[in-house]
Formats: sequence, C-alpha cells, structure tokens
Amino acid sequence: MDTTLIFLHGFPLNATCWKPQVDYFKNKYKVFTPDLRGHGKALAGSGPWMLQHFVNDLKIYMDEHKILKAVLCGLSMGGYIALQFMKDYPERVSALVLCDTRADADSNEVKDNRYKTILKMEKEGMTVFAEDFSMLLLGAWTLKNKPQIQKDVKKIILDNKTENMSMTLGALASRSDSVSTLKNIKCPTLVLVGAEDKITSVDMNELMAKKIASVTFRVIAQAGHLSNVEQPQVFNEHLEQFLIGASL
Ligand code: MLT
Repeated sequence: MDTTLIFLHGFPLNATCWKPQVDYFKNKYKVFTPDLRGHGKALAGSGPWMLQHFVNDLKIYMDEHKILKAVLCGLSMGGYIALQFMKDYPERVSALVLCDTRADADSNEVKDNRYKTILKMEKEGMTVFAEDFSMLLLGAWTLKNKPQIQKDVKKIILDNKTENMSMTLGALASRSDSVSTLKNIKCPTLVLVGAEDKITSVDMNELMAKKIASVTFRVIAQAGHLSNVEQPQVFNEHLEQFLIGASL
C-alpha cells in the first residue's frame, strides 16, 4: 500500500472519469484523483492560464497531501501536465503512465482550431461543443456499443464553465514542446492508447514511446481517446501488470 498513484484527467472532463481505476486500484495502492484547475469541483482563479499553472497546482497538491513521490498517470491533457511535471520535478515521480497523449506542442493549425473553439463557445455556450467533443473523444466501437458513455461524458463536459474551458484551451495552445526532453525520462514508463483515438493517434503515441528509454507500449482495441473509460478492464490490467513489473 506504500505506492501512490495520481490520476490526471483530460480536457474538458473531471476526476470522476477515473472511477473504474479508483474501484480497481484503491485496495492495492494509495489512489488520488484531483480535479484539475477549472474542471469539476476544483477552484479556478483568474486567467490567463499556462500549462505551468496546472503543474504548479499538482506540486502544491502533492505537498499538501504529503506525497513525496508518486506514479503519475495522465490522460491527454493530464499527460501534458505529467510530462511537464517530469521536467520540473523528476525526483517526485516514481513512474509515468502516459495515456492517449502526445509530447509535441500544438501546430499552428491546432492552435487556430483552439482559438476558433474559444470564440464559438463564447458565442454559443457549451451545448454544441459538448455534443461534438464527446463524439470526438470516443471511438466508433464505444459510440455503437456503449452509447450511454457518450451521454455521461457530455454531462461531465456541460458541468464545466465556459470561461474555464476557454482559459484551459489557451493554456493547452501555449504549452511547450516536450519531445526533446523525452530522452531524459529515466523512470519506468507505460504508454497506453486506444486503437481508435481520433485526437492523439496510435502513431503519435508510438512516436513518443520510441523516444523514452524504459518504456512499455500498449494499444487498446475497441477504444478511442478515453481508453480508461471505454475499456476499463483492459486498461486496468495493462496498468497493473506495468506496476507489478516496475516493482512499485
Ligand atoms: C484532452 O483530452 O485532454 C484534450 O483533447 C487534449 C487536447 O485537446 O490536446
């Protein structure tokens, strides 16, 4: 029970997305699932935000909970935060789990899309965005076979405030590249990705994994970007095997 796992959720969601992992791991490890700045029940504070604010929040969270070292498991935006945290505080990370994420910064095209989304959300509110984005987050198999997940994800998105989502998009757009520092990651690392991920593809995740020295790479079938929600059993088994193999 000594090992601590901290799960970092993606944009524009909240910590409840980690329920299948909390249920599975809570009796084996110390499990923490913070809501990230502006999401769920977390405080927001005024903007503008940078990714560094999310990283600082995590450092403060670990200090407050007296967590000296943890396995950081970040999905998508959670992965961007974990990668930046790893650069800043490597001594506080015992292992990394990067799920459906990427190490490179946004291209100009991706940035432009984020700015368009901000303007659209400000004009129309979150309803259309929540419908479109929940569809994008999930793979075709889930949308066909587990349609309730899309409804649940849409509700989680709608529970967040428009201005907080806008400020988060700004932080994501301005984040730095982490590709050149992947070679400095010394701790055991697991890269997991849904085979049907439409946001951070299998290729992107594989490219990132190849630059990390001590890495395990796994593709999860019948899952999109939210692989931990879409195929929780397979996701948990990969994570458990990794944690046992890493002797944590
Ligand atoms: C996420 O799931 O956190 C976001 O889709 C990440 C992104 O938009 O880059």
